[in-house]
Order: sequence, then structure tokens, then C-alpha cells
Amino acid sequence: MRIVNHRSFFLSILVLAAACGGKSTPAGGGGGGTGPTEPALGPLAPGQWASMDHEAQEEFMKQVVLPTMKAEFQAFDPERFADFTCKTCHGSGIDDHTYKMPHPDLPELTGELFQNPPEEAKPMMEFMGSKVKPKMAELLGMPEWSPEQQDGFGCTACHVMK
Ligand code: HEC
Ligand code: HEC
Repeated sequence: MRIVNHRSFFLSILVLAAACGGKSTPAGGGGGGTGPTEPALGPLAPGQWASMDHEAQEEFMKQVVLPTMKAEFQAFDPERFADFTCKTCHGSGIDDHTYKMPHPDLPELTGELFQNPPEEAKPMMEFMGSKVKPKMAELLGMPEWSPEQQDGFGCTACHVMK
């Protein structure tokens, strides 16, 4: 994961995130799964992700990350994300099987985008900050990026920052 510092413009996103609350459906509690659409495994414990081998990480992505995040993205924009797969996040990283993140196939972020987001980008930025970032952080058992938590899970865990 990439560490981001000196990016105080992330603050605006955090404020948005706080205002909207991080609430969304839980991913099911460790082990059971509470219904047919719930993945069998829940969010990881702190530190757990880093201790997993590549195969276990891949399995966790399949069982938990993909279904949970697919639901989030499709609730936000069913049309654009009708076809939501590993590739939506990993791009060509699925072809070489590295799944390396952040991945340059995702839209590149710029300081300008944070400071002065174009009108058409605002709903997506809001969704990213209030849903995608906190949900992924929760699933991976990581703290969310913030100015006080610079090693947390942030936008640049997925997107390359110019
Ligand atoms: C919502 C976005 C998203 C989706 C969908 C997703 N992943 Fe990931 N994946 C990530 C992120 C972010 C990381 C890096 C986590 C970290 O370490 O910061 C990652 C990491 C991984 C890794 C570990 C990579 C490494 O560096 O060793 C594997 C393997 C992986 N994903 C496989 C998959 C597979 C297989 C799927 C589909 C079943 C999938 N992912 C779907 C976001 C996603
Ligand atoms: C878990 C991975 C992940 C994280 C974390 C993440 N994004 Fe994204 N982002 C995506 C994916 C996947 C897309 C959709 C790409 C597509 O349409 O194929 C996307 C799309 C976008 C877009 C839309 C660009 C366009 O061309 O419409 C913007 C803007 C964006 N993200 C900004 C952010 C910001 C700001 C943050 C942090 C608050 C963030 N993202 C965090 C995965 C992520």
C-alpha cells in the first residue's frame, strides 16, 4: 500500500465522508454469513491481511471483497457498473496475476481533481470518499487514511496519484 503524505486536500473528502457517515451493510460476521447474499467471511482483523499469503488474499477477494464492493458500486450506478469484476479494480493486473495495486488502469488522480473537482466528477468523488474507501478499509482490517493516519487505507491504495 502506498503511503501518502502532505496531501491536506484529502481533508475535504474526509469531511464529506464524515458528513455522510460510513454506514452501509455489514459484510457478515466471521464465519457464518447471515443470508444467501452475504459472503461467508467478514472483515479481517487488524494486521490479518498482511499476514495472509497470495492465495489466501485472492480467496478473500473472491469471497468477500468482490461481492461486497459489487453491491456498493451497483447501488451507486447500476448502469456503469453492471459488469463489475476483479478487473474493475485490478485492470490488467488480473492478466499477469500480480493483482498489483495501485493500478495505472484506474483513472489517475491529481491534486487539481481534489482541489477543484469538475462538476461531473463530484458524485463519483463523494461515493469514493464516503463508501468505497471506508468499506474497503473495514474489509481489509485497516485504518482509513487521514491526516493523522497517513499509513491508512486511502484513495491511492487503488488509484495512481500523479
Ligand atoms: C473494489 C476493488 C477490488 C476488487 C473488486 C478486487 N480487488 Fe483485489 N485488491 C484490491 C486492493 C485495494 C488491494 C490491495 C490491498 C492492499 O494491500 O492495500 C487488492 C489486493 C489483491 C491481491 C493481493 C495483491 C498483492 O499485492 O499481493 C490479490 C491476490 C487480489 N487483490 C485478488 C483479487 C481477485 C481475484 C479479485 C476478484 C475476485 C479482486 N482482487 C477484486 C481491490 C480490489
Ligand atoms: C478500492 C479501490 C478504490 C479506492 C480506495 C478508491 N477508488 Fe476511485 N475508483 C475505483 C474504481 C474501481 C473506479 C471505477 C473505474 C471504472 O469506471 O472502471 C473508480 C473511479 C473513480 C473516479 C471516476 C473517474 C472517472 O473517470 O469517472 C474518481 C474521480 C475516483 N475514483 C476518485 C477516488 C477518490 C477521490 C478516492 C478516495 C477518496 C478513491 N477514488 C478511492 C476504485 C477505488
